Amino acid sequence: MDTNANPTRLTLPAGTKLVAATHNPGKAREIGALLEGRFEVLTAASLDIPEPEETETTFVGNAVLKARHAARVSGVIALADDSGLSVVGLNGDPGVLSARWGGPDKDFGLAMRRIEAALIEAGTDDRRAFFSCALAVAWPDGPVVAFEGQIHGTLTFPARGDRGFGYDPIFMPEGETRTFAEMDPAEKDAISHRARAFAQLRAALF
Ligand code: IMP
Repeated sequence: MDTNANPTRLTLPAGTKLVAATHNPGKAREIGALLEGRFEVLTAASLDIPEPEETETTFVGNAVLKARHAARVSGVIALADDSGLSVVGLNGDPGVLSARWGGPDKDFGLAMRRIEAALIEAGTDDRRAFFSCALAVAWPDGPVVAFEGQIHGTLTFPARGDRGFGYDPIFMPEGETRTFAEMDPAEKDAISHRARAFAQLRAALF
């Protein structure tokens, strides 16, 4: 990771003003909650910061790109995330394109059927997959730090469960027979890629 300062001296004292580099109000709220109400969380939308194009090939790369952009434009410390599902039998697809596999209507029923069809097309029985969540914090004067959490599991078809979002109905975390969409949201939140990334961030910066 390219950092312009020694990350060990970077901290986020309680009360720090942070911009959540997202235009999604749900995500901004989730980020605020995961940060335990420690910070004054502003949104990129409320500061009128345009969303940059996500041109990187890794979750960390895109999170860093979004955080740097928001910090540069706003002059405020910025936090960005990037997440998605990587399917082992599809060489990591949809990966950083997870949101885009749902098409313009963000239809994840369609995206899940596309994954099943692609696995059949590839002629593989390998149903392993993992979710990743990258978080990046960028300071307006240059430093940036990034964290990545993952949860591994297997895919099951047809989709099951009506909780959660995105690819949750086809993903069973390791050691579980239920999909994320069949689990209580609090159970998912305790073990998810997002929780794991935030735990790393808290350990490093709080
Ligand atoms: P982004 O991080 O907003 O670019 O979008 C990531 C995409 O990955 C989402 O649109 C979801 O489809 C998928 N994704 C990320 N995290 C999860 C999760 O916890 N459950 C299900 N799908 C997820």
